[in-house]
Amino acid sequence: MRPVVSQVLSEADDGGSRRPPAAAGATAAALLLSLCLGFPPSVAACPPDCLCASDIVSCSGRNLSTLPLDLPGYATRLDLSHGALAALPAGWIARPFDRLATLVLSRNAVARIEPDAFALTPHLLHLDLSSNRLAVLNASVFRGLEELEVLLLFGNRIVRIEPGAFGGLRGLRRLYLSGNRLEAFPLELYQGPAGPRNLTFLDLSSNRLRRAPVQSLLSLPAWQQAGIYLQGNPLVCDCALLALLEFWVWKRYRPLVDFRGDYPCGLGGDGAGARPSCAGQRQGAADNFLEAGTHRVEPGDWLRVPCPGLAPPTQGEPVAFWVAPRAVLRSPGDDPSGRLLVLPNGTLEIRGALLEDSGTYVCVAARGRPFDPGESPEATVSVGNSSVAPDAGSAHGGGAEHFNTAFTTLASCVISIVLVLLYLYLTPCRCREGRAGGGARGCGGRAVLLCSDPREVDSGERRSNGKRVAFLEPQAGDSDTGGPKTPAMNSAHGNTEGILKNGSRTVGQTLTDPAHVA
Ligand SMILES: *[C@@H]1O[C@H](CO)[C@@H](O)[C@H](O)[C@H]1NC(C)=O
Ligand SMILES: *[C@@H]1O[C@H](CO)[C@@H](O)[C@H](O)[C@H]1NC(C)=O
Ligand SMILES: *[C@@H]1O[C@H](CO)[C@@H](O)[C@H](O)[C@H]1NC(C)=O
Ligand SMILES: *[C@@H]1O[C@H](CO)[C@@H](O)[C@H](O)[C@H]1NC(C)=O
Ligand SMILES: *[C@@H]1O[C@H](CO)[C@@H](O)[C@H](O)[C@H]1NC(C)=O
Repeated sequence: MRPVVSQVLSEADDGGSRRPPAAAGATAAALLLSLCLGFPPSVAACPPDCLCASDIVSCSGRNLSTLPLDLPGYATRLDLSHGALAALPAGWIARPFDRLATLVLSRNAVARIEPDAFALTPHLLHLDLSSNRLAVLNASVFRGLEELEVLLLFGNRIVRIEPGAFGGLRGLRRLYLSGNRLEAFPLELYQGPAGPRNLTFLDLSSNRLRRAPVQSLLSLPAWQQAGIYLQGNPLVCDCALLALLEFWVWKRYRPLVDFRGDYPCGLGGDGAGARPSCAGQRQGAADNFLEAGTHRVEPGDWLRVPCPGLAPPTQGEPVAFWVAPRAVLRSPGDDPSGRLLVLPNGTLEIRGALLEDSGTYVCVAARGRPFDPGESPEATVSVGNSSVAPDAGSAHGGGAEHFNTAFTTLASCVISIVLVLLYLYLTPCRCREGRAGGGARGCGGRAVLLCSDPREVDSGERRSNGKRVAFLEPQAGDSDTGGPKTPAMNSAHGNTEGILKNGSRTVGQTLTDPAHVA
C-alpha cells in the first residue's frame, strides 16, 4: 500500500499546487490530501525527495544537505548518495531506525562525524562513506555500530587514523580504505582492545604507505594476512618487504595473485632490477640451497634449523623471520622465554627444546627467486617422541599424494560400477520371468556400492583398494508377500538407476559409520 500512496502523493506534489518544498508543510498537506482521496493516512509516508519501495528508501542524487525529517522508520536500506551532506552531527537522524541494515552516504561532502552520530542506527551491517571528504578519523567515530560488518571508506582524504577510531566495531569483517592518503599502516585495527576481532579483509591499496610492518603482519593469523591489500602504494622494497611478499606469493594469497604487477620488488616480472640484492640469495643455477625437512631432537637438547631455500651466505647477514608456533622471531628478545634465537646467518637455534616446541616453523626470508615447485619455506620440528604429522599445516607438500589417493579411489569406483553392471546384466534375471508370470515380484536384487572417501583413506583406515561392494540378494519373502515396495526396485531398469544413485550418495556418507557395512 505505502508505495502507491507515496507515488500518488509525489505526483500530486509535482503537478498540482506548486508549494515551496518546506518538508513539514508538505507532509501535513499530503496527509490532508490523502484523507480527501480516501486513502488511510499512512504512519510514515515517503518524503517527496525520495523513492520508497517497501523497505528500501532512496533519496539519492537529490542534492540533500540535511536529512528529510519524515523518513519512514521501517527502512532497512537508506540511500543518501550523491547528495550535499557536509557533516553528520549527533542528531542528524531524527528518529531511531531499528531495522536499518544498510546506510549509503557515498559521494557526499562529509568532513565531520560527531560522536554518537550512529547512535540511532545500532543494527547497521553495511555503512558506505566512500567518496567523501573525511580527513582524520577521530577516536570512537563509529561508536555504537557493534554489528557493522562492512565499512566503505575508500576515496576520502584520510591522512590519519586516531587510536581507537575503530573501537566498538567488534563485528567488522571488511574494511575498504583504498584511495586515501595514509602514510602509516593502521596496525591498531588488529591490536586495539575494543577493535574488530573478525577482520578478514583490509584494503589499503592506493595510499601513501612507504613501509609495511613486516614482523607484525607475519604474526597475524593466516586468515587475516590473506586479506591485506597493499598494491598501488609507494612501498620501499627492502629485503624484509621482499621476504614478506615472496611468502605471500608462495601462500597464494588473493592480493598477490590478483594484483601482483602492482606490487614493488619486481614481482610482476618486468622490473627485475627493482629487486634488492639480499644476503643468502642463490646465485645462478647452483642448487646449494638448504632443503626443508623434519628435525628431531630430544627434550632439553639444542637444535639448529637452517632456513630452507636460503644459500649459506658468503657475505652479509640475510634478513630472515622465523614464524614459530607462538611468536615471530627476528631479533633476540622476540621469544619471551629466550630459548629461541635467529642466528646471524638466518639459522634458527632452539636452546633446550621443550615438548611444546614441536610444530611447523616457517622461514620468511628474501630468496630473490620464485619458489621451485614443491619447495617450501617450512621446517618441521619434532621434540621427543611426540609425533608431528609430516604435512600438517602445509598446503603444498601433500598435494601430489592426495591427488594420487583420490585418483585411485575414483578408478576403483569406476571399476566397481562396471562390475555391478556386469553382475546385473550377465546373471539370469528372475525379474522378467516374475513379471511375465503376472503378479509375482521377485525383483529385489539390490546392490550397494561403496567407495571410500580419500580423506578417510589418508587418515589411516585404509581398506583394501579403498572400495567395497556389497551385494544383497533378493529376499525370499519378497516374491510371496507382494506388499508395497519402493518404486526404484520394481523393474530391472529402475534397479540400476537406484544403484547408481545409491552408489554416488554413499561416497563419504555411509562410511562414516563403518559398522553399517556388515
Ligand atoms: C546543491 O545545493 C547547494 C546548496 O545546498 C547549491 O548551492 C547547489 O547549487 C546545488 N547543486 C545542484 C546541482 O543543484
Ligand atoms: C576530528 O576532530 C577534529 C578536531 O576536533 C575535527 O576537525 C574533525 O572534523 C574530526 N573528524 C571527523 C571525521 O569528525
Ligand atoms: C566472529 O566470527 C564468529 C564466526 O563467524 C562469530 O561466531 C563471532 O560472533 C564473531 N565475533 C564477533 C565479535 O562478531
Ligand atoms: C649458521 O651459523 C652457525 C653458527 O655460527 C653454524 O653452525 C651453521 O652451520 C650456519 N648455518 C648455515 C646454513 O650457514
Ligand atoms: C616416549 O614414549 C614413551 C612410551 O611410548 C613414554 O613413556 C615417554 O614418556 C615418552 N617420552 C617423551 C619425552 O614424551
